[in-house]
Amino acid sequence: MNLEFITYACADRIATITVNRPDKLNALNDVVMAQIDAAFAHAKADADCGVVILTGAGEKAFVAGADIGELAQQTVRGGKEKSLRGQAVLANIENLGKPVIAMINGYAFGGGLELALACHLRTLAAETRIGLPEVGLSIIPGYGGTQRLPRIIGRGRALELILTGKPITADIALSFGLVNRVAPAAELTEVTTKLAKAILDNGPLALAMATEAVLRGSETTLEEGLRIECDLFGIISSTEDMREGLNAFLEKRKPAYKGR
Ligand code: COA
Repeated sequence: MNLEFITYACADRIATITVNRPDKLNALNDVVMAQIDAAFAHAKADADCGVVILTGAGEKAFVAGADIGELAQQTVRGGKEKSLRGQAVLANIENLGKPVIAMINGYAFGGGLELALACHLRTLAAETRIGLPEVGLSIIPGYGGTQRLPRIIGRGRALELILTGKPITADIALSFGLVNRVAPAAELTEVTTKLAKAILDNGPLALAMATEAVLRGSETTLEEGLRIECDLFGIISSTEDMREGLNAFLEKRKPAYKGR
């Protein structure tokens, strides 16, 4: 599946979705957002895909943010609708049911960083900088940045990024826990693929349910979160894959999961 601003390729159960608008540093206009949504819907339905890597085309950028030209044209009422539409696209990524890694190969600013925050894991090119510069344009993050960033790195650090609007280096992003791996740009694909393969060794239903437990559980009380975990543990215990995983261990062989 290839669209005007998206390429989709799947090999060895890893689907790579590339935002492909390099002349505008992969900035997100409404069409790009709709095509990202379509690509993730495709990945969800693609039986060959176990993990998704999301990245940007070209050497310079992952995604340099929402399209500023389009924002400047926006009607007075359009802002809320745009934010709602973008948030829905990002929620579909977060709730895909398959692990998603943002491979941040270059600039990730504003909506670009917010896109990466909706992914489950992030890897980052050592040479790049990332940030939420919206307040410098007198707007605020509108694709979940004010909500997901503090949940990932804590309120104090998130407010520093959001209020200064200044980018941070890869070292700082790593020390904040904002990204899972940092590697030189030339090695980023290899490092990210290694991470994807480590995930792919595991049961697909277990991956989906563990992610759901973490995401839903972190939005509620410990008591309710433990109930969610318990319910999902009950469901996973009823699957063929769970029997297969346990039997394969006892029989000293590699499991062959079927996703049911
Ligand atoms: N929206 C629309 N177009 C964008 C864009 C964005 N967010 N970011 C970059 N572009 C476009 C530039 O306008 C330029 O287009 P042009 O060649 O038609 O003039 C092209 O991408 C290349 O960008 P340029 O600024 O020339 O590259 P650079 O290497 O000098 O700078 C950045 C790179 C990322 C530092 C700079 O482009 C930038 O600050 N972008 C905006 C980042 C931002 O504020 N994002 C949040 C938006 S809410």
